[in-house]
Amino acid sequence: MSDKLKILQDKLNASRLGGGEERIKKQHEKGKLTARERLHFLLDKGSFEELGALVTHRTTDFGMDKQQFYGDGVVTGYGTINGRQVCVFAQDFTVFGGALSETHAEKICKVMDMALKIGVPIIGLNDSGGARIQEGVRSLGGYADIFHKNVKASGVVPQLSAIMGPCAGGAVYSPAITDFTLMVENSSYMFVTGPNVVKTVTNEEVTSEELGGAMTHATKSGVTHLTSANDIECIAQLKQLLSYMPQNCEERPETLPLALGNEIREELEQIVPENANKPYDMRLVIKGIIDEASFFEIHKDYAENIVVGFCRLGGRSVGIVANQPNSLAGVLDVNASKKAARFTRFCDCFNIPLLVLVDVPGFLPGTDQEWNGIITNGAKLLYALSEATVPKITVITRKAYGGAYDVMNSKHIGADMNYAWPSAEIAVMGAKGASEIIFKKEIHKASDPTAKLAEKEQEYADKFANPYSAAERGFIDEVILPKNTRRKLIKAFALLENKVEQMPKKKHGNIPL
Ligand code: COA
Repeated sequence: MSDKLKILQDKLNASRLGGGEERIKKQHEKGKLTARERLHFLLDKGSFEELGALVTHRTTDFGMDKQQFYGDGVVTGYGTINGRQVCVFAQDFTVFGGALSETHAEKICKVMDMALKIGVPIIGLNDSGGARIQEGVRSLGGYADIFHKNVKASGVVPQLSAIMGPCAGGAVYSPAITDFTLMVENSSYMFVTGPNVVKTVTNEEVTSEELGGAMTHATKSGVTHLTSANDIECIAQLKQLLSYMPQNCEERPETLPLALGNEIREELEQIVPENANKPYDMRLVIKGIIDEASFFEIHKDYAENIVVGFCRLGGRSVGIVANQPNSLAGVLDVNASKKAARFTRFCDCFNIPLLVLVDVPGFLPGTDQEWNGIITNGAKLLYALSEATVPKITVITRKAYGGAYDVMNSKHIGADMNYAWPSAEIAVMGAKGASEIIFKKEIHKASDPTAKLAEKEQEYADKFANPYSAAERGFIDEVILPKNTRRKLIKAFALLENKVEQMPKKKHGNIPL
């Protein structure tokens, strides 16, 4: 018996060593942790149970039969994060550069199937040179199997992808389908075709970092939702992100015990400037409303004219979508609409109530926006907020102009509770623009057109640059003092806790993509 135990132990030891000491050293020299070290920091101490530690590939071509590594370049299994079950896979760059073989893919598919069957989140730690070149199409088939499962799992269990090394070619499409992508600065990159192919095809000279590094995807493409300085920080972000989500679409996120909920927040009265054209930071409004230090911003450096993220409000997990007057006056453009729509849909999938904070002067004009489809993209946000059946509350802090008023979770598209601050201006457009159009003839005929315009502007502003026309029609449920916003919202979200809204029976909607 002792011989048999030894055989097992030797095999497991070999498996734990991955590609060997030398390659582990190389991984560390690049500032990266190994797959097992990453899982060690991600999961609760002692909770990891590995599956498939002794799997090996089945390829014999190119001398591969002589290169066998137990585990085949990916560590898979399950464990807990703060007591919650999760299924995980971590690609092991020390084995064939983490390249994906048929069996490597089978291991990932197995934990994905498990996660879906039992309703727990899937977390993938990606660090891979892509398709295992020696296996050809078998490896591509493996990718497609994973993509297909990603799609099946979408909206059923949360799927999180951390990119902690290379992720190129077809490999990028699994993270792209999952709910959130996180990237580590300076050690990860994602692209469909690398710098060499780019040079050949387009004659552009570009480094991997410029083409698909963490900052590129955080600022230019929006492919990544979060970036971190190193592996440890990335893992901490994964854990915090997960804390706002439920296990699956049938459950609700955990509500934390509420310490304070009825307090007045005087600081909220000082944020919106008297001059309606002056910017201010919507993050201060968010901070003034939510539970202390609970805001977890997503896509912070992308489409900064809209702020999205998770927070706790009275202990509840809530998703925030907020115009940001500090950037482009908070206008809605193509990228802001896509960013907010995607976030809204995630929250709706997983029963996370939505809070929409509005200060929006309208949609961004211009050929760039029109030619890039502001119509279709703006419609994404309109569609996403309209179809969301989670509790939805709106607070208009200042401007809510034109079509953007409708889009930003107006009563008309199904918001459950609509509040406005006294500083709100709910109108078709700003007073100046409106007066120039509707009083054009009068102004033209006047002996002093400038004075006439000012007079008419004031007349329009008196009528519409306030929340009261909307409140009179019931489009606004209550005009509230800023300092009371927090307690009003906590009460309203508690009221809406058991909201049930059914959409008409359909296969699925057809969001304008
Ligand atoms: N298939 C099989 N083995 C691969 C591989 C792949 N796609 N990518 C890397 N490897 C192996 C390397 O042969 C090397 O093996 P070794 O340790 O036995 O020498 C090991 O993984 C590490 O690769 P290396 O190139 O030394 O690491 P690096 O950090 O210098 O570069 C990459 C990493 C990913 C940039 C580079 O390996 C690469 O370009 N790989 C191919 C990417 C690709 O075209 N994939 C297929 C299309 S999706």
